[in-house]
Amino acid sequence: MNDTPPAIPQFFDFHAFVCCNRRPDGHARGSCAAKGSEKLRDYMKACAKEQGIERARINSSGCLDRCELGPCVVIYPRGDWFRIETTEDIDRVLAAAQPGGAPADDLRLPNR
Ligand code: FES
Repeated sequence: MNDTPPAIPQFFDFHAFVCCNRRPDGHARGSCAAKGSEKLRDYMKACAKEQGIERARINSSGCLDRCELGPCVVIYPRGDWFRIETTEDIDRVLAAAQPGGAPADDLRLPNR
């Protein structure tokens, strides 16, 4: 049996889901919105548009269940996870997605 999934054409080439879940202050797990993810999402959206990245979409998501590691973003179709704390981190994540862009491996979250 071949475990390789079939190559399916993707509607977006860069589809980011930025966790914007907000929990009450003092919650044991914290939340990405409480750590500034909404502003980072807005910045990512603006940068993707400004840079003319084609077939890109930046969406808000609910909790991605990696709260303690956030603010976090997952980017499909590759399923790359990153911790994003600053606008500079966003710049680096966007650059890493471009052909020849420097990898942002130090921001990467493990897939498992
Ligand atoms: S609150 Fe963002 S991953 Fe859970």
